[in-house]
Amino acid sequence: MLKPTLTRRGFAIGLMAVPVFAGSGWAQGSAPASLPTMKVSKDPDCGCCGGWIDYLRKAGMTVEVTETKELDKVRKRLGVPDDLASCHTAEIGGYVIEGHVPYPSIRKLLAEKPRAIGLSVPGMPQSSPGMDVPGASDVYEVVLFGSEGRKRFGRFRGRKEI
Ligand code: CU
Ligand code: CU
Repeated sequence: MLKPTLTRRGFAIGLMAVPVFAGSGWAQGSAPASLPTMKVSKDPDCGCCGGWIDYLRKAGMTVEVTETKELDKVRKRLGVPDDLASCHTAEIGGYVIEGHVPYPSIRKLLAEKPRAIGLSVPGMPQSSPGMDVPGASDVYEVVLFGSEGRKRFGRFRGRKEI
């Protein structure tokens, strides 16, 4: 009667057609997939940049990486002040993201669209995403900067907003 088939093709296709409703784990708002592609410029020898990029990809972001030894030129072109500089510079949705900025702040920036150049986590605070040394619990701030001046846009310990 029923002939056993060698492939499970029909079964597999049936499975693929099932929509995925799994929770994303992110508390607020729309799907991470709706964020535009982020373009990151980083030094080829920088390890913590890679940690930050991995973290954003895990959060659902699409990230393109350009390796360059001339990050200062990139910062100058994009209008990042020297005292807000970190180890990598990214562009997304017309904004600049400098340093180890946590995902919730990037998302908030793109949702609120303030008049600004972008966000920075100056330096490389321990406990920021990509810099999360075990045991580190530094509190650090995300700075919104641009022609309107600067203001605090977020405050974090590790990956958690406080
Ligand atoms: Cu870094
Ligand atoms: Cu970096």
